Amino acid sequence: MKNNTRRDFIKSSAAVGSFFILPSGLRAKSPNSKICTAHIGTGGKGRIDTMYLAKHSNVEVIGLCDVDYAHGKMDTWSKQFKSATAFQDYREMLAKLDDKIDAVSISTPDHTHYPATMDAMERGKHIYLQKPLTHKLKEARQLAEFAAKKGLTTQMGIQNQSREAYRLARHYIQEGLIGKVTKVYVWSFKTWGYDGEPFKEKSEVPGTLDWNLWLGTAPMHDYVSKVYHPGQWRKLLDFGCGTLGDMGIHIFDTPFKALDLKDPKWVEADCREPNGFGHAEKNMVRYGFNPTKYTTDNFTFTWWDGADAPRHKNNPDLMLPNGDELPKQGAVFVGENGRMVLPHCSMPTFYPDSVTKNIPKTDIVGVDHYTQFLDAIEGKDKTLAGFDYSGPLAESLCLGVVACQFPGKRLNWNAKKMKVTNLPEANPHLKGRYRKF
Ligand SMILES: NC(=O)c1ccc[n+]([C@@H]2O[C@H](COP(=O)([O-])OP(=O)(O)OC[C@H]3O[C@@H](n4cnc5c(N)ncnc54)[C@H](O)[C@@H]3O)[C@@H](O)[C@H]2O)c1
Repeated sequence: MKNNTRRDFIKSSAAVGSFFILPSGLRAKSPNSKICTAHIGTGGKGRIDTMYLAKHSNVEVIGLCDVDYAHGKMDTWSKQFKSATAFQDYREMLAKLDDKIDAVSISTPDHTHYPATMDAMERGKHIYLQKPLTHKLKEARQLAEFAAKKGLTTQMGIQNQSREAYRLARHYIQEGLIGKVTKVYVWSFKTWGYDGEPFKEKSEVPGTLDWNLWLGTAPMHDYVSKVYHPGQWRKLLDFGCGTLGDMGIHIFDTPFKALDLKDPKWVEADCREPNGFGHAEKNMVRYGFNPTKYTTDNFTFTWWDGADAPRHKNNPDLMLPNGDELPKQGAVFVGENGRMVLPHCSMPTFYPDSVTKNIPKTDIVGVDHYTQFLDAIEGKDKTLAGFDYSGPLAESLCLGVVACQFPGKRLNWNAKKMKVTNLPEANPHLKGRYRKF
């Protein structure tokens, strides 16, 4: 009863709106002011997510779940969070701790994002979900719509968005420092793809791992050591979104937010022919968007990944003076009055130098993405990467992943109907197929 009162309070304060300042002292009257969290996927990035969320003074970790007790570091966690209960199956954790949980953090491979998040949101939980939000385009739309309907606080794990460098970059673009933007080039040198043959051998499943739970709703595959788990799943169609999903979502974010980009009109890709198994190791994806108040009418947006990215190095837009080198991953914004180079996770630089003479004064500082989420649950802040923003961002990215299955073909996109209008064979790639597990 005590807990219910507090939880109802947390739910209703977040549901009032995404930004709601509580009258001072109201939370202090709550019988127990802790936000009780449960964590799905506690190894890899989940280790960092759990650590950062738990650092907040108002958080109490009550549930920890990983399908692999060893990779999920359950021994270490159980010493650190003595009152938390450990699970291997997130469905069991959500069902058993249901009325005690306020917020759920999900840091599993991409294919599990949608089913785990939906389960938690149906129970009214606030969600911190890792990027790229979802594995399939339609899942992103469904999560965003459902979170809005339930009035839940949400945040996608694109933590750089809240840091000073990206906030300043957005501010400078929107203040018109380089004029209206005509072209954006985005890239990553990473190669989260697999061009080889399907794996034929099988390995023994480690004793600490429940392979059926790891697969979850994905199609059945035999376990092969070091091919899927941990981390390598990114390269494979059934589990991840390739380099586009891994790094693209971080790097697309600043141009999307700064230029207020919405649904693409079309997308086209250049990569190897699909092999039905792995994402291509090298991709080029080009998007067409409607112009916005920050772009020219003929605005273009181009992504490269893999070795040699960004390709077309003889393109004058990508040649820097004074021997300056392009970053290994990041973005170049080409404006009517100059260029902004934004290395991934670093401060922007401008060409020509004279552009910086007009740098507008600002008091923008970085904030912590996790704290922002927890404060938003309490009605004290607003998340920058809530599903209302990150849903459409993830949709554009997932559409690029689909285009890579049809290299050389332009996919015309009707966002309202969620349909590729000129290539019906692309549409089945927009949705998931869910195995019972
Ligand atoms: N924001 C960032 O900078 C950043 C960086 C790395 C990874 N990520 C994201 O974090 C997520 C995980 O990536 P990773 O590199 O840590 O992968 P990983 O494979 O190294 O770790 C995933 C963890 O989740 C566990 N897991 C898998 N399926 C599970 C399930 N159904 N229930 C509970 N636990 C499960 C695994 O055992 C493992 O501990 C991905 O969505 C990835 O895109 C984000």
